Amino acid sequence: MVQIFLEFNQCSSVLICGSKGFLVTKPKFYLTTPIYYANSRPHVGSAYTTIVCDVIARYKRMCGYEVAYLTGTDEHGVNIERAAEKAGISPAELVERNQKIFVELWKLLGIQYTHFIRTTSPQHARAVQNLVRRTRRHSPDAIYKGKYEGRYCIYDNLYVSDTPEPADCPTCGRPAELVSEENYFFRLSAYQKPLLDLYAKNPQFVHPDFRFNEVKSFVESGLRDLSISRKSIKWGIPWPDDEEHVFYVWYDALTSYMSGMGFVDGEHDGPDFKKYWPADIHAMGKEIIRFHAVYWPAFLMAAGMPLPKQIVAHGWLLFEQEKMSKSKGNVAYPEPIVRVLGNDALRYYLLREVVFGQDGNFSRDALLTRYNADLANGLGNLASRVLTMIEKYCGGRIPSAGVRAESKYVFPVPANHARDAAFRAFENFNFSSAVQAIWELVAVADRYLVDTKPWALAENPAKLEILNTVLSDAAGALHFAAVLAHPVIPDATQKIWEQLGQSGKLGEVRIDVLQWGGLKPGTRIGKPEAVFPRVDKEETSERIVKMEDEIRNPGSAQPAATTPSAGTTTAGGAAAAAAPAPGAKISIEDFAKVEMRVGIVKSAEKIAGADKLLKVMVDIGDEVRQVLAGIAQYYVPEDLIGRKVVVVVNLAPRKMRGQESNGMIVAASVGPEGRPVLATFTEDVPAGAKLK
Ligand code: MSP
Repeated sequence: MVQIFLEFNQCSSVLICGSKGFLVTKPKFYLTTPIYYANSRPHVGSAYTTIVCDVIARYKRMCGYEVAYLTGTDEHGVNIERAAEKAGISPAELVERNQKIFVELWKLLGIQYTHFIRTTSPQHARAVQNLVRRTRRHSPDAIYKGKYEGRYCIYDNLYVSDTPEPADCPTCGRPAELVSEENYFFRLSAYQKPLLDLYAKNPQFVHPDFRFNEVKSFVESGLRDLSISRKSIKWGIPWPDDEEHVFYVWYDALTSYMSGMGFVDGEHDGPDFKKYWPADIHAMGKEIIRFHAVYWPAFLMAAGMPLPKQIVAHGWLLFEQEKMSKSKGNVAYPEPIVRVLGNDALRYYLLREVVFGQDGNFSRDALLTRYNADLANGLGNLASRVLTMIEKYCGGRIPSAGVRAESKYVFPVPANHARDAAFRAFENFNFSSAVQAIWELVAVADRYLVDTKPWALAENPAKLEILNTVLSDAAGALHFAAVLAHPVIPDATQKIWEQLGQSGKLGEVRIDVLQWGGLKPGTRIGKPEAVFPRVDKEETSERIVKMEDEIRNPGSAQPAATTPSAGTTTAGGAAAAAAPAPGAKISIEDFAKVEMRVGIVKSAEKIAGADKLLKVMVDIGDEVRQVLAGIAQYYVPEDLIGRKVVVVVNLAPRKMRGQESNGMIVAASVGPEGRPVLATFTEDVPAGAKLK
């Protein structure tokens, strides 16, 4: 059967050929993040825009759209020029180096962008110059030469005031610099009425509403013409036919939304541009909304180009009540969080904790609390309970539903309710509400298991049908939750999907037409494995902080890949002890860097004030080492004496609770709570024997 998707959400469609030669329409969707300044590495605050857009892109794909998602790097302007000068390299070298950091980070964060634009690329320069040429043809009065004198913030690339008197930047608070030169100006003042008409005709043009009101008031209060070229700067795109000038960085940067898709001049453009322009959503942080909702549509009107459909602004991520920003030094970096807790943990936290559109506070403590409460004890625990019971009581096959055990749980009612609420919330950018609706379903399924007690039903053969119904319903709820949560936590939900015995990519499942009953009875489930091992907050936080310090001051801490986790791989419960991204492979050389030996425990004792740590003296052949291991809750010290263990002996020493740990004892991490089980040998091996 071929599905015909009708045009909806004002989205234009493209015709494609269906598998049987029918013509079907598939709606298309074009979404952008701002292009990032390539003068410094992204922090959690700046990565927020890209993560949110990735959630939108994945969600739209799961609603059947063909999505183009553009991001990139903003590589011109005075702040790049100065950063390069400070680093003692050329601007070209600086942006080449920094742009790679973005590409690598987006890969680590699993960002599925489809287009990446660098403003130093020749195709972009040509597009910017052509946009001005086109503007001159289409609106001959829109650009003129004039004298500029005013205050300009080089950090935010913002005109702070159009008079020479000293002024501070409203965004960063730093003194703005005096600029006085001959520039090309854009006649923004002439676009006040056309902009107000645009806003009146498109009540959704800016989201959220309160930002739209700010934009309208700004335009209503009158617009000044805008300087769009610079003479004093060399690092930029030359002005067409007047090479003394380079483009003002914002005119240059905004054009990336078109050049990145193949815009040439509005007439000889590439296929992606023709297919996707105008953009459906330009998303960004609130401080740059004016550039997107005022200047950009005016530039496009003057050039006779179609306008983007919606401008969506989010709030700031604050750290200690101030905007997270590198220059203030109050930043948290995404890489350590992702390496220690996995990609989903950061995404979940940001989407759940921050009310989209408002400022939100970033706190490591809240991140870890949410991780344990919602991911490990919530969805992760539900998945492992349901799957383990299906394995144990139903021979590892999805059972069929029959008689209901409890009338107050009428599945699929709560599942459909979660789907509808999440769908509405995703459509309105209420990510936090979408996540809450999905987790309400997780909680209902949990309560259902507690109330119906499948483990007790399993003891009575007469209750087999009820048992099957309970586990079928619980698996159905898990299936629903995995599909709905996939845009937010793609890695864990894909794993749950596979553990439920489903094949293919979860991202290809349609969220908007999700129906109860998608799990076929009799399906063989996969191997149940914990998707979110519980972590010890204190230890995990320490590890994250240490890795962040290493990013701030390279060489100050031990390399991330060998950061010990309080003595055992499982002391914190996090199996991903500084591991590479899930699925990434390491070379044999990387493995060879880890020296492991057989050790024999000589003594073990508790450490005062630390309920999880044991101080273990272990003979590793040529010496007796002191190692701190996070196993005190599971092993009695005396029982360990004489036991053979595996010790990583070449870890840099680390202090915990005032005691030095000189190595790591290897253990498996078992169950959702990450219970450590020490690795050992059944055959006779001497202390000091190397593991290869
Ligand atoms: N280069 C310009 C954008 C040009 S678009 C044509 C720029 N770059 S940026 O690197 O400063 O910002 C990139 C994104 O990160 C923006 O959406 C910005 O709002 C966002 N954030 C930077 N710091 C932030 C927080 N502390 N919190 C949330 N988002 C913030 O602006």
